[in-house]
Amino acid sequence: MSGAGPRARQPARRISGPARAALSLLTILGATAVQAAEAPEVAQACLACHGDALAEGAPPIAGHSSNYIQLQLVFFRAGRRKNEIMQGVAEGLSDNDIRALGKYFASLPFPETKPPADTQADLTKAGETAALQHRCAACHGDTYLGIQAAPRVARLPEAYLAKALGDYRANTRPSSGGAAMTEVAGSLSDADIKALAHYLAVLP
Ligand code: HEC
Ligand code: HEC
Repeated sequence: MSGAGPRARQPARRISGPARAALSLLTILGATAVQAAEAPEVAQACLACHGDALAEGAPPIAGHSSNYIQLQLVFFRAGRRKNEIMQGVAEGLSDNDIRALGKYFASLPFPETKPPADTQADLTKAGETAALQHRCAACHGDTYLGIQAAPRVARLPEAYLAKALGDYRANTRPSSGGAAMTEVAGSLSDADIKALAHYLAVLP
C-alpha cells in the first residue's frame, strides 16, 4: 500500500516557470488523489479474517462507513452484538483504536468481486418479492449500496446475510438507526430470510 508521502512543499520563489508548473501540478495531484487513511497498527490483526481472503463467517468490512464500523465494534465490545470471535477482538480495543479502525477501513474500497453465479432463480425471485414487500430498498438504496446509517448489503456473503437477519430477529444483535432492523426482522419468516440473503448475495 502506498502510504501518504510527505506533502509537496510550496515551490521556492526562485524556481523557474516549467519547474514551478510541475511542482504545483504535484501539489494539486497530492491534494486530490483519493488516499487510504493511514493503517493503524492494530488493523494488521483484522486482515487475517477480513482481508482479501475472508475467514469463515467473516464479512468484508472495507468500504462501510466509518460510523457503521465504529458502532459495530462498540456493540461487540459491550457484548450487545453477540459473537465470540469479535467480542474477543473488540475487548482489546480502545476508543482511539476504534476511531482509527473505522476511518481506515472506510477509506478502502469494497472488495469488488463478480457476484456468484445464480443457480437458484426461483429463490432470487422470492427474495426480490420479499424485499419489495418489506421495503428494504427504502433504507438501503435501490442498488443496496447503503444510505447513511443503513450499510451496504449487496453482494455480502449469503450465509453472513442470513445470519445477520436471524440475529436481528433473535435480538442478539442491536440495530442503530432507531432499532430499524430489529423491527424489520421481527416480521421475517425463515423462508423470507433464506430468500432475502440469496437475493442480496447474487445482486449484479
Ligand atoms: C479470527 C477472525 C476475525 C478477526 C481477527 C477479526 N474479525 Fe471482525 N468479524 C469476524 C466474524 C466471524 C464476524 C461476523 C460476526 C457476526 O456474524 O456477527 C466479524 C464481524 C466484524 C464486523 C461487523 C461487520 C458488519 O458488516 O456488520 C466488523 C466491523 C469487524 N468484524 C471488524 C473487525 C476489526 C476492526 C478487526 C481487527 C481489530 C477484526 N474485525 C478482526 C471475524 C474476525
Ligand atoms: C427503516 C430502515 C431500514 C429498512 C426498511 C431495512 N433496513 Fe436493513 N439496516 C438498516 C440499518 C440502520 C442497519 C444498521 C443496523 C446496525 O447498527 O446493525 C441495517 C443493517 C442491515 C443488515 C446488516 C448488514 C451487515 O453488514 O451486517 C442487513 C443484512 C440488512 N440491514 C438487511 C435488510 C433487509 C433484507 C431489509 C428488508 C427485509 C432491510 N434491511 C430493511 C435500516 C433498514
